[in-house]
Amino acid sequence: MIPTSFLLLFALLGSSKALTILPPVEAETAQQKPVVAHFMVGNTYPYTVNNWLYDIKLAASKGIDGFALNLGRDTWQAARVADAYAAAMSSNTGFKLFLSFDMTSLPCASPDDAGALQSYIRSYYAHPNQFRYAGLPLVSTFAGENCRFGRGSLDDAWASAVKPAGGMPVYFLPSFFVDPASFSGLPVMDGAFSWNSGWPMGNYAANFSMDTTYVSNLGGRSYMAAMSPWFFTHYGRDTYNKNWIFRFDDWLVVERWEQLLQHRDQVALVEIITWNDYGESHYIGPIDGAQPNSQSWVNGFEHQPWLDLLQYYIQAFKTGSFPPISRDRVFLWARLYPAGADAPDPVGRPDGWTYTQDILWGTVFLTAPADVTLSCGPSVKTMRVAAGVTKVMLPLVATCDVQAKVVRTNKVVVDHKPQGFRFRTDPPSYNFNAFVSAS
Ligand SMILES: *[C@@H]1O[C@H](CO)[C@@H](O)[C@H](O)[C@H]1NC(C)=O
Repeated sequence: MIPTSFLLLFALLGSSKALTILPPVEAETAQQKPVVAHFMVGNTYPYTVNNWLYDIKLAASKGIDGFALNLGRDTWQAARVADAYAAAMSSNTGFKLFLSFDMTSLPCASPDDAGALQSYIRSYYAHPNQFRYAGLPLVSTFAGENCRFGRGSLDDAWASAVKPAGGMPVYFLPSFFVDPASFSGLPVMDGAFSWNSGWPMGNYAANFSMDTTYVSNLGGRSYMAAMSPWFFTHYGRDTYNKNWIFRFDDWLVVERWEQLLQHRDQVALVEIITWNDYGESHYIGPIDGAQPNSQSWVNGFEHQPWLDLLQYYIQAFKTGSFPPISRDRVFLWARLYPAGADAPDPVGRPDGWTYTQDILWGTVFLTAPADVTLSCGPSVKTMRVAAGVTKVMLPLVATCDVQAKVVRTNKVVVDHKPQGFRFRTDPPSYNFNAFVSAS
């Protein structure tokens, strides 16, 4: 943990420097199209600095620039944030962190509540691993559109919390759930993060229209887009009462990146939702820390095989061109049970269950053309696939084990039979989480 006095010194130095001299590396960040991942500090109660270090090194190795630390009201979270910054510094990766205040948890009625956020900002303002954008420490939120901090308007409210008179300048990119038409009346925002842009909000494939609405209402301010591989949450009425999916079919994890790349000029930053939100099944990092009572749909559903798939698109987003494909590889993911099958599960079928079909989704990376066979029991599909990246799919119709084979000039170059990737027509529960594998 970093002593407070050390942080204060940094904060004081930072306050005078931030406006005038931009270190070249920070100035470049604005050009570099950063990609960050949302991180639920609330799931890190048992974390030590070493857990943070592991996650930071892993994320950095996949091209992720930083974590947006989702911070809630539990007092213990402050110590985890301090550990996270300490770990980022000792990782020697250049990995950055910023605060993303969770305003569905933190209080925001009074000026004191604004003061609490301000003191958080000051604590890490000039930390060497503070994420900066356009030279300024970035501050984000989850929600916050109903906060007033004792002020009359939303704009004044947030100005008092993140940009108080005489305070230190920050780059404010909140994810307010408001009509984008109101952005012109919110000069406190230096840009906006569109949380819900990560998934289709109805029964249609992902498209860029919500993003376009954000961009066109921002008047030149920065747009941070969301991307997310999945969404399934399954809490009964007796707990959080959240039981639904967003539509993740049609290779959402890939097609969202394709859209972000197609509109790369309009997207300043991308935030991946999420690194570790187990409760909503959109984690991409290891299953670690303290789950929010999501074990029944998370345990055994490792999502890390997606990391290398993401890395390919992250690099493309950051550099403007796809990295070369150096080895033949297959990525596969699917739900393990038919969406319409009955299960002995008192929580019930998740809302939106009719949005998803019983399909194995996949992406094949090939160094040269090859024959690709996907199979699961009676469902078998062989196709000639070109070099490069190709989306593939296979209907799942009976209890079966998933397999993928890549054959080139009579030689099997990939034979992928992922352990545990068994589709079953007799679900033990209404678990719509993704089983993910990579060869
Ligand atoms: C695109 O997404 C919007 C919501 O963001 C939706 O209303 C619209 O129907 C979608 N378009 C298509 C063609 O699916």
